[in-house]
Amino acid sequence: MYLLVDDMWDRIFENLKTNLNHSHNDREKARNATLIINMVGNTTTIKDPANLAEEGRKFTFDFSYWSHDGFRERDDGYLEKNSAGSNYADQTIVFEDLGRGVLANAWKGYNCSLFAYGQTGSGKSYSMVGYGNNKGIVPITCEQLFVGIDEKKRNPDAKDVEFQVSVSMLEIYNEQVRDLLNPKTASIKGGLKVRQHPSKGFYVEQLVTAPVSSYDDIDRKINEGTRNRTVAATNMNATSSRAHTIVAINFSQKAPNEAGQSMTKSSVINLVDLAGSERAESTGATGDRLKEGSAINQSLSTLGNVIKALADASSGKGKVMVPFRDSVLTKLLKNALGGNSKTIMIAALSPADINFDETLSTLRFADRAKAIKTKAIVNESPTDKLIRELKEENQKLMDMLKAAQGGGVMPQPMAVEEGEDNKGKFTEEEVEEMKRSMEEQLKRNQEEMETMKMTWEQRLQEEAAQNQEKLQAERRKQEERKVIPHFWNLNEDPSLTGMVVHFVREGNTRVGNKKASPPADVVLIGLSIQAEHALVRNDNNVVYLKPASADAKVLVNGKPLTTEDGEEELHHNDRVMFGSNHLYVFHHPQDLAKQEKAGKKVERVTYESAQEEIAQNTGFDMDKEGKSKNEMLLQEDLIAMMPMVNEANAMSEELDKKCRFEIALVSPQARGLKEGRTEVSVKMKNLENGNDFMWDRNKFINRKYLMQEMYQNYVEGDPNWDVEKDKDPFWEPSDSEVLVGSVHVYLQSLAYLIELDENLAITDYRGAENGHLAVMIEPCAQDGSLLEDDFVEEPEDLIGKPMHFQLKVPHARGLSNKYVQSCVKYKFYLDEKSTSTNWIAGINPDFKHSKQFSYSPVTKQFVEYLNTQPLILEVWGKQTSAADKQRANMSTKQMVAMEKGGLNLNEQNRMAQKRVTTQDDEEKQKLTQEVSLMKKMNEKMDKKLMMIQKLVDEAKTAGSSTLQVEDVDAILSGNFSRKFKGTSGIVKEIKKYEKKKPTPAPLPSTNGPAASNGRGSAPPSNQAAKSAPPSNQAGDVNKSTACTVQ
Ligand SMILES: Nc1ncnc2c1ncn2[C@@H]1O[C@H](COP(=O)(O)OP(=O)(O)O)[C@@H](O)[C@H]1O
Ligand SMILES: [Mg+2]
Repeated sequence: MYLLVDDMWDRIFENLKTNLNHSHNDREKARNATLIINMVGNTTTIKDPANLAEEGRKFTFDFSYWSHDGFRERDDGYLEKNSAGSNYADQTIVFEDLGRGVLANAWKGYNCSLFAYGQTGSGKSYSMVGYGNNKGIVPITCEQLFVGIDEKKRNPDAKDVEFQVSVSMLEIYNEQVRDLLNPKTASIKGGLKVRQHPSKGFYVEQLVTAPVSSYDDIDRKINEGTRNRTVAATNMNATSSRAHTIVAINFSQKAPNEAGQSMTKSSVINLVDLAGSERAESTGATGDRLKEGSAINQSLSTLGNVIKALADASSGKGKVMVPFRDSVLTKLLKNALGGNSKTIMIAALSPADINFDETLSTLRFADRAKAIKTKAIVNESPTDKLIRELKEENQKLMDMLKAAQGGGVMPQPMAVEEGEDNKGKFTEEEVEEMKRSMEEQLKRNQEEMETMKMTWEQRLQEEAAQNQEKLQAERRKQEERKVIPHFWNLNEDPSLTGMVVHFVREGNTRVGNKKASPPADVVLIGLSIQAEHALVRNDNNVVYLKPASADAKVLVNGKPLTTEDGEEELHHNDRVMFGSNHLYVFHHPQDLAKQEKAGKKVERVTYESAQEEIAQNTGFDMDKEGKSKNEMLLQEDLIAMMPMVNEANAMSEELDKKCRFEIALVSPQARGLKEGRTEVSVKMKNLENGNDFMWDRNKFINRKYLMQEMYQNYVEGDPNWDVEKDKDPFWEPSDSEVLVGSVHVYLQSLAYLIELDENLAITDYRGAENGHLAVMIEPCAQDGSLLEDDFVEEPEDLIGKPMHFQLKVPHARGLSNKYVQSCVKYKFYLDEKSTSTNWIAGINPDFKHSKQFSYSPVTKQFVEYLNTQPLILEVWGKQTSAADKQRANMSTKQMVAMEKGGLNLNEQNRMAQKRVTTQDDEEKQKLTQEVSLMKKMNEKMDKKLMMIQKLVDEAKTAGSSTLQVEDVDAILSGNFSRKFKGTSGIVKEIKKYEKKKPTPAPLPSTNGPAASNGRGSAPPSNQAAKSAPPSNQAGDVNKSTACTVQ
């Protein structure tokens, strides 16, 4: 009997993370994050940090939990409210609200699902699984399930009831499914297959479902799964925050009904810890040609589409197509999302201002999900009927298989993809695949039947026997950790930290990869690990470490340890990195005891603190003292990016991709912004031809995932691991345009209608000079003819009148010879598209660019723009594609060694962090240009004065004691070509003057006539620079016409 109950995603709740991680917490405090989230009852308000005065956006959910502050740590590590009035929601509160409901529904025979959505670090894993004594919903629910079962079993009325619980755990990474309870399947190329059963929906082929008889069993299984995940993630150098983890608990109750008939009630509880939501948006933003290449986000973006479609469907938007089939995650969770399941979603938020975008998008996602309705039914049937159905299905499958093997026409297969057009025409391969699918189905059905028939106790015993050995080994290990020195792992993801342990027993412990012979004692797979990598020696509990060869990379406390250094003694809490990403903390029980006895404070090592130390040792300033918020954020970015850059370099070496990556710090000024913070980008260098390319953070991260995919294929021995150049994440075509540098031109002189003629330094992203660019702006008449020699006294005088000018970029000088061609691009005022000069070859390219702009009439905003904003001219280059012949037969490794010979990385990094252009540099540039403007105004004044003097002189010579008003006016207004009434000689003078018109001195230069003219014309004020930038208002008419590019 199926009972139909209408249900919806009845509970959406948020959990506000707080950060326990000490160094993290310090950092958050130090950078003084502003909280932008507020919770009152079930309403959550989020404010835009740019508009804190505004009321903010409101969202309501069934539950809202605050956990950012208001708590204290008990001696046993449990976090609880720090006062009666605190609104801190501890794990017990969350379980009581949510877990209890899940449990009750599972007992009733409903399928239940629990999702955790949110950006990395927001508290998904904390809510789902928890840390240490702060157990999350999953373990408490499991614990309570067995409490319930034990209670029922004690009840004499229920002695005929049988309870069966089994658990499976899988991970979806890069659209591939891995069974976390069966690490052997990790080597299956492309992961496990997802198949579809006609009535039960999608499932994973070969997935292990382990029977469990107690909470401890489940706990052990989940631990085992997490450990397998950690090892695999480290070996593959995968990013765990990009994986989705699904723990499924199958719970069934077999009991006779009143009529004595055996009934089976079953429930699947899906517990889903989703991948960090942040990247779905950010990678989409990159303009990289390979951005579509990576499938890494497919599951998450499809989840978004599915939720949107389901929400539309439930709000009556007609027939909506729900794209369940577009990703592995949504296939496997089809029921949980839109079918037979009671579903809860947890949206985890970070309350800090810098996460505003991510947090708002999480809230919107949750808001949409709220509208979805699912239809959960009680899954209860007579046991006999279930067995009969399975038998019938099997019979059908067998008949079909027989038909297929006999070469007959393939009947409608059972597991064929829904909606596919299959009119009996299959390729041989497809038929084979269908056969395999049916066989698999058959096997599964048989297993299921056996499970139903076989007593559960039998299966449990079988399982227990298999686990016996593992269990004892696990117990032994826990005991040994207390007395034997060992390494424990650090992972970027706190939930994978401390999961892997390697002991250092008396004698020698060899660390190496799978190729070591005899096999290494500690086998590490992955980036930069040598067959014989390092030797750890335990001599009567004093432990020494040394690299096994000059090629073996080992860092101790952030510093490289070389073979020349000899053996290094290890102490408790030392940080050790093998290769590029195997990061461990050394635990020495006796040394710890000694340190504690000596009163030394033993700090807890975190992934962040270990990475910080490495960054510090490569020259980056990681000091916290006296750092601004932006500097702290930069440090955080460096810690996130540096390991990725190191890994990319290690992959390039191993795959011999002939390129090298370097951290580059890019100031907001270099990105064309007036203010903001310095960002971390990555410079990619082609070692064969010396080409440099700048990749922004998103592009690099996206590329790195593609590199990982390639590396994984390589490691798996795929002969086709390498791809064509245009799909290769390590490759960038030589003719890619690269930014050589930029020039900021202040436009105030234009606001005074004074021509500008400058020769400005082209500065690159870190403020280094890269040649000079000549720029001219000449006010002109509509037809392009030069204006009479005058200027306005106040820029405001221009408002309402037409204005025309020509922008000229004659040439650049002194570009680096690595650019074979270059051009200049710019956007003036409200231009949407940039204007580009022609591409010109050589280190001194003559662009000969000229374009006329006309604004009619001039608006207030336009004047403000001229007064305050710089025009940014970007110089772009194309590099040579010719490879350096001397390097033709060199490997990446050899070339890197050559590069390294010429530079000191520490020094470089230190300089990079110091040298980024600052606001001061920008201010200096602006002032220099202002000085040059003033100089020009003065020259014009002087000229007028001189003219009047001439006029006076001529009048005197002619014996006249009066001057004509028109003549003086003509001079003052700059209309020199007007006919002079009183004198004749002055006209000649003017002509002469025009001919030797002073040419403006190139910048920077401070000499020249700068005397004040006393006429009281205000020099351009610096004040204006601080007013708001011009806004793009409707009605702000401006036209640019008559473009002439020579
Ligand atoms: N409700 C909470 N109370 C206290 N600490 C929390 C809470 N939620 C998260 N944290 C801490 O924040 C950090 C990141 O949380 P985690 O659950 O690992 O994030 P995610 O799984 O979303 O990436 C962890 O150190 C965790 O202990
Ligand atoms: Mg997590």
